[in-house]
Amino acid sequence: MKIAIFSTRPYDRQFLDTANTAAGLPHELSYYEYRLDSQSAAAIRDVEAVCIFVNDNLDAEALKLLQSVGVRLIALRCAGFNNVDLRAAKTLGIAVGRVPAYSPHAVAEHTAALILSLNRHIHRAYNRVREGNFALDGLLGFDLAGKTIGIVGTGKIGVIVARIMAGFGCRILASDPIPSAVFAGDYVALPDLLEQSDIVTLHCPLTPRTRHLVDDDAIAKMKPGVMLINTSRGAVIDTKAVIRGLKSGKIGHLGLDVYEEESDLFFENLSGQIIHDDVFARLLTFPNVLITGHQAFFTHEALTAIANTTIANATRFECDGKVVYPVSVEMLA
Ligand code: NAI
Repeated sequence: MKIAIFSTRPYDRQFLDTANTAAGLPHELSYYEYRLDSQSAAAIRDVEAVCIFVNDNLDAEALKLLQSVGVRLIALRCAGFNNVDLRAAKTLGIAVGRVPAYSPHAVAEHTAALILSLNRHIHRAYNRVREGNFALDGLLGFDLAGKTIGIVGTGKIGVIVARIMAGFGCRILASDPIPSAVFAGDYVALPDLLEQSDIVTLHCPLTPRTRHLVDDDAIAKMKPGVMLINTSRGAVIDTKAVIRGLKSGKIGHLGLDVYEEESDLFFENLSGQIIHDDVFARLLTFPNVLITGHQAFFTHEALTAIANTTIANATRFECDGKVVYPVSVEMLA
């Protein structure tokens, strides 16, 4: 199949080329650094599949354009599928595939890294020591042992976070409409989780139901000084509400790997430019906020798995019109 691959960086090309060559009967891959959306979709010609990442945006308009030039498959190189209008894809007869699990360990371990760094102020200590400042004021942390961690979403990533944090001696609570058979902790309703947790970490997908799940009301229920971690999708939290929580001191630590408006920022080197997003710029001013640019997935193992599964989805689709890991409208429920 002819597959156009968007939002690519050199590392994507390296891993996808390797997986494609190993597949035996390789697909014809073309790489584009820019994002795919309703504007750039107008330029697409002569491809049967497009392959996209987290910040490409396939709304109904983009999908109509793609269908009109013969695109029959959207291959997501990620687990989340909030950036494709699934209803429009179904109506237009376009199949959507994803990579449901590339390395849940990568994301779970990055979540633990954010928790540990924030708690022990490693991001501040690193800079201080390099400047010859060995004072400890402002670096006071707390023992994780005995603290309660609330995990919102006990899917593939959430259960590993639970296991890691149990290793530190934490009490583990979770909330999930579909309980996991392999989760070793206590399920409680979300309000109870928010009230009891010293650390709240988000591992649910972004759906209409989970958009702004952490808003002013949710923050009001949390413990004073709570640590909030989001490695799922930016819009699961209402960023302005979280800033209000930081300013009042209700939120004591914030760790983010994702951000509501990250598509204008992440995966680019903007170090020589002015950041026009005032909400993001405000977040950067807090000493107790640690942000990484959607890198939780970024391990060798995960990139290998992403490439292998993406090629497998395309190969299966070419054979019998189905993908190995389909995404359907029903998954939005
Ligand atoms: P998963 O599909 O295995 O698990 C998601 C869990 O969330 C499911 O158990 C589901 O029932 C639960 N859930 C759905 N709605 C909920 C709600 N309202 N409240 C509580 N739980 C709810 O997904 P996985 O692989 O664990 O990934 C979770 C999310 O992590 C993905 O949807 C994606 O957005 C994000 N992610 C982020 C990455 C990064 O690099 N930062 C990389 C990979 C995934």
